[in-house]
Amino acid sequence: MDIKGLKIHFTDNQKLKITEDLKDILDTGQLAAGKYVKMFEDNWSKINNCKFGIAVSSGGAALEVLFRSLGLSGKEVILPTNTFIATYTSAMFAGAKPILADVSYKNMCLDLENIKKNFNSNTGAVCVVHIGGIITDEMEKIKNFCDEKNIYLIEDAAHAHGSTFNGKYSGEFGIGAAYSFFSTKTFTSGEGGMVLTNNEDISKKCFSIRDYGKKSQWESVHNIFSGNFRMSNLTAVIGNNHISEIDNFLNKREKIAKMYTDNLSDKYEKILPKNGKSGWYKYIVYLPKKVNRKDFKDICKNQGLGLSGGVYDKPIHLQPVFDGSFKHGDFPIAEEVCERHICLPIYPSLTEEEVNQTIEILNKSI
Ligand SMILES: Cc1ncc(COP(=O)(O)O)c(C=O)c1O
Repeated sequence: MDIKGLKIHFTDNQKLKITEDLKDILDTGQLAAGKYVKMFEDNWSKINNCKFGIAVSSGGAALEVLFRSLGLSGKEVILPTNTFIATYTSAMFAGAKPILADVSYKNMCLDLENIKKNFNSNTGAVCVVHIGGIITDEMEKIKNFCDEKNIYLIEDAAHAHGSTFNGKYSGEFGIGAAYSFFSTKTFTSGEGGMVLTNNEDISKKCFSIRDYGKKSQWESVHNIFSGNFRMSNLTAVIGNNHISEIDNFLNKREKIAKMYTDNLSDKYEKILPKNGKSGWYKYIVYLPKKVNRKDFKDICKNQGLGLSGGVYDKPIHLQPVFDGSFKHGDFPIAEEVCERHICLPIYPSLTEEEVNQTIEILNKSI
């Protein structure tokens, strides 16, 4: 039996409801943003205890809309190098200056020590990234630091669907969180993203910025220079129906994670949440130092276990787009954790038998 690294799953009920909703949209001609976008926003913000949800075209768009709404032009934004390039580019496209920082070995996330190292009088914000769905146990400390310095705390919550720390969801800590609903994410609309915030002024700015800086959807009065970051009703129908079974999907992921945590050999260093819950976008382990990851993945593949790519196989400072501005060794922890980790299969349609087989192959192969 071949075990896939990732499978995208919709239940039969969800497929039926999506078909019905799409028919409604085609019957009424309401393809642009309308009641389904609003429903998706209302449901996702409610699930995450946030007052306002602004649905947009992608996770990167959510970040950019949020950064733009904060007026960070010329200000420095501290963010981790262990992230997707969108965390960096969105701050840059909003006119801010992204500053890369190293991360913590314990959970691959930005920590307070690295924030402090990079803080100066021109810092306007910190953007944390909840790698694999783990909200760092330093979250309250980071929040307190940002409050003390009077700078914004932004959450890149692309991985944090269903994750909590001390009972709080992503979006509740700082000024706002940016979620991605890309196909591979825990919940998906195919392409899509959403800003969550509890700040009414920021929410109004985000609504305007996502739609050419307009006063409202059907009024062509432009108050802010901006572009098109909109989500359509067609996209929202998929996302809104996917999140409709959030408890069912998260419970399945939790059960798989528990099986790994309980049964995987201690030779793997497991990254587990502290004082909170992961939504288990990824189940991440470090391989022992001596193990070559590519060889190890080939060994697993030959036994029928397909391991997907890492969260990030390379930290962004080593991407060619930086054209030599950084070198190996500049952010040693991020480089080490990117190189040493693997992600285990974790998705709702993965069967118990497949999880047991995965554990057996992994324990044997290490
Ligand atoms: C941490 C992080 N931020 C932002 C994004 C961008 O999301 P999207 O692909 O929906 O634009 C991703 C995408 O994978 C991501 O992993």
